[in-house]
Amino acid sequence: MAISLSTALISLALFIGFATLSRGSDECLARNFGHGSVVCECNSTHCDSIGSVTLPPLGQFVSFTSSKAGSRLQRDQGPVQKYSTGAALRLTLVPSQKYQRIRGFGGAMTDSAAINIMSLSSRTQDQLLQQYFSAQGIGYSVVRVPMASCDFSTRLYTYADTPGDYNLDKFTLATEDINMKIPLLQRAQAMSPQPLHLLASAWSAPAWLKTNGALTGKGSLKGKPGGKEHKTWAQYYVRFLEEYAKHNLSFWAITTGNEPSAGLFNYSFQALGFTAEEQRDWVGLDLGPALHTSAHPKTHLLILDDNRLLLPHWAKVVLSDVHASRYVHGVGVHWYLDNLVPADLSLGTTHHLYPEYYLFGTEACAGWSPADRGVVLGSWERAEQYAHSIIEDLNHYMVGWTDWNLALDQGGGPNWVKNFVDSPIIVDHIRDVFYKQPTFYSMAHFSKFLWEGSQRVGVSFNQKNKLECLAVIRPDGSVVLTVLNRLSSEVQFEVWDPAVGFISSEAPARALLTIAWNTH
Ligand SMILES: *[C@@H]1O[C@H](CO)[C@@H](O)[C@H](O)[C@H]1NC(C)=O
Ligand SMILES: *[C@@H]1O[C@H](CO)[C@@H](O)[C@H](O)[C@H]1NC(C)=O
Ligand SMILES: *[C@@H]1O[C@H](CO)[C@@H](O)[C@H](O)[C@H]1NC(C)=O
Repeated sequence: MAISLSTALISLALFIGFATLSRGSDECLARNFGHGSVVCECNSTHCDSIGSVTLPPLGQFVSFTSSKAGSRLQRDQGPVQKYSTGAALRLTLVPSQKYQRIRGFGGAMTDSAAINIMSLSSRTQDQLLQQYFSAQGIGYSVVRVPMASCDFSTRLYTYADTPGDYNLDKFTLATEDINMKIPLLQRAQAMSPQPLHLLASAWSAPAWLKTNGALTGKGSLKGKPGGKEHKTWAQYYVRFLEEYAKHNLSFWAITTGNEPSAGLFNYSFQALGFTAEEQRDWVGLDLGPALHTSAHPKTHLLILDDNRLLLPHWAKVVLSDVHASRYVHGVGVHWYLDNLVPADLSLGTTHHLYPEYYLFGTEACAGWSPADRGVVLGSWERAEQYAHSIIEDLNHYMVGWTDWNLALDQGGGPNWVKNFVDSPIIVDHIRDVFYKQPTFYSMAHFSKFLWEGSQRVGVSFNQKNKLECLAVIRPDGSVVLTVLNRLSSEVQFEVWDPAVGFISSEAPARALLTIAWNTH
């Protein structure tokens, strides 16, 4: 609706002579806050947008470039040639090497994201949601939804805070769900060309079910798997799915809980500790059977939902157990502490041990580490962190990647425990604008182009080089190649797709490039 409204406004403005608006609708209104690169500012009537992308006919390629220098999804087109262009560096597509299929990309509708989005005027809210979810936007199809409060909330609560309520008779969604998250998810769903894949994760069980009697700190469920606390905690998930279904929102998947390792330490925000062994037995005895006999038996179950350094150990414990593994579909992975363990030893090994379970990135954000904290408007380095991680993860069998908060304020919150971080969209509600960070465009280079069902294929280089790249073949047969150049000089290369020919290309300094072409 806001698109037609803004189109109408632009036509009106043209009619009365504001010519500057005429070329505006697709362009980034760049703002430089002095942190290396720019953000694009959007308001209720203007936002740069990639629009719907159609590929040129066979014989042509299209490319989109974003760079530290300030390009944002800049479109170029050129011919696919019959003969080698003579470039020294050649990247060859190897379609016969086939790997995993892509599921999707997205972000999280936390309480804080919802508060920030709703702090804008309703037309700017629409503009923001369209950026992520509409056909003109960047193609998000995954939304992670925290069950009750997490650190990105303004208060501590669960849906069943009445002590002793083992039957969950008093289970009730919060005002954050009813008044903010659910209406926003419904609007996102309504503007999305595809059904959204909703993914639910709980941070903490109600305090009365826990050993420490609190939502935060070191604590686990009382008793043992198979016992009444574990059964109640499984039913809590089922009740959540039922309550959201009443609002027409059904979930593709749930996780076994956010960062179970956090609750094994004295963690400062909501957490519920599980060891891999306890998670295995809870899934096998309680959660799996509860979900299976519920009204939502098709809901996928992702284990772990924690950092990859716990792999492959965690997967071995849970997935080699016949009672637990039959209820599980995949393994959720967070990106924090990635540097501590290489992708092939964690993700790669897990995939090769358990190829029938998919790997899915369930959380990532920039600005989380004490040395590099909070919002940095215009950081290109963070765009590179995202792109590097997505390329590495997808090259190690992940089928999707989920960013954290969909929107934060300029302080990186709200967050009740002051765990402020960055987000691809930063909201300034006083001016009724939002800034699209370089990380927004990083996400776009993948989420817009790697459609669900796309299959990763092989690529090979004829010589050693520093480019990072990822190739997929989409369900319609078109090829998408994503190239990240983190060097401060441009790199010339050619792409050879034996099925169609040669493409002459260059990756500008500190840039992310998506090249796509039809094969028939
Ligand atoms: C939105 O931004 C555009 C581009 O800068 C500007 O022309 C327009 O006046 C702004 N609209 C509002 C409502 O501030
Ligand atoms: C639920 O969604 C379906 C299809 O998406 C739609 O036809 C129906 O009207 C919706 N119901 C409510 C109560 O929103
Ligand atoms: C746990 O951490 C909190 C602050 O987050 C602190 O007040 C408390 O003393 C700690 N408890 C233990 C047992 O270390």
